[in-house]
Amino acid sequence: MAAAVETPMTDDLFAKVDEVKQANPDNRCTKYLTREYYESLDDEQKSLLYRCVKTGLDNADSGLGCYAMKPSDYETFAPFFDKVIYDYHGAEEGSKHVTDWDASTVGDGGVLDVTKLGLEELSMRVRVGRNLKSFNLPGLMDKAERIRFEQMMLKAFEKLQADASYGGKVYSLSPDWGEGVANPNLIDDEKYNELVKAHVMFKDMDADPYLKSAGISSDWPYGRGCWQSDDGQCIIWFGEEDQLRIMCMKRGTKLNEVFDRLKVILDVVESIEGLEFAKSDNYGYVTSCPSNLGTGMRASVHIKIPMLTKDGTDAKAKEVCKPLGLSVRGTGGEHTPIGADGTVDISPRARLFIKERDIIAALYVGIENLMAKEKEAAE
Ligand code: ADP
Ligand code: ARG
Repeated sequence: MAAAVETPMTDDLFAKVDEVKQANPDNRCTKYLTREYYESLDDEQKSLLYRCVKTGLDNADSGLGCYAMKPSDYETFAPFFDKVIYDYHGAEEGSKHVTDWDASTVGDGGVLDVTKLGLEELSMRVRVGRNLKSFNLPGLMDKAERIRFEQMMLKAFEKLQADASYGGKVYSLSPDWGEGVANPNLIDDEKYNELVKAHVMFKDMDADPYLKSAGISSDWPYGRGCWQSDDGQCIIWFGEEDQLRIMCMKRGTKLNEVFDRLKVILDVVESIEGLEFAKSDNYGYVTSCPSNLGTGMRASVHIKIPMLTKDGTDAKAKEVCKPLGLSVRGTGGEHTPIGADGTVDISPRARLFIKERDIIAALYVGIENLMAKEKEAAE
């Protein structure tokens, strides 16, 4: 079990809920956490739900302000999570998620070529978040479970490594495997920083206040690392916000190439014995954050929009992208600044109640629309 988190007295808890609600009415955690519901739970459930919502109370500026601690939390605490989910994803209550990767009919016979939009090669990436049924979600893992998860994943990576089309290497941050057992895949700080800079490894999660107060970054950097294929394009993170983030990334012009390759590797991973992904009947693939439920997919490109970022910030780009259904991030990912040359990371915001194939198609249309806005801004 992860380190104990003291559950506050109910009066204190709801005084905090009110305070945060006042400070930020858009914090969905405090918007939907009612005293009546909380008091209907038994003590064990209260303490688990408190762990889920602590991040939203500690960080008033949260848009969601909650993470699940176990795959079953979305069912156990449905009266709370359902409201957060339907609101964030703008969906009708009772909607059911459908998985569909068949992108053979999107774009031009399945081809989404950005040169048709007058663009040259872009850095393209598609990732999905996945968690296994048999483990706690990262917020509730303790150090031993994190190490056990890493060791179990190594068996899956060995299978990929044995396949000549992948090969690859495991990079791990676990200082040891507990009780003096050496970690053969341990990398040093220099290598870690090089991998972060190359967008292969994730940033120091313990520096993220949202993840930290949810316990998701606890025991950092134990049980954290990645596997990367020989050609560098296929990457599997372990131990980040989700137990697994599986991705395909490369420079190119056809968005469908990273999408299709991700599907192939995902099928390989899912076919490995013992790797059963956690799924929910209504919400598709289960992720720590309600924002990633469903597909768990973020499909992004790095794209230069100097006119829309003339002031050196992403403010205008975000304003323009919001109605286009696109999120804007910095060149180092979430919560990082945009590039000095006006490069931003854009991705369709939708993840749930949308088909995978429609996300990649939406990225293409989004690029087209955004470039039209960039052109307008230049006139
Ligand atoms: P996630 O995409 O998993 O939600 P982040 O937004 O933090 O997480 O991004 C993780 C890493 O992936 C960062 O280094 C980010 O710059 C990189 N990344 C995302 N999209 C692209 C892309 N299209 N090209 C290159 N790197 C990318
Ligand atoms: N917990 C933060 C919030 O509620 C971030 C949510 C989205 N980002 C994420 N990495 N899940 O605002």
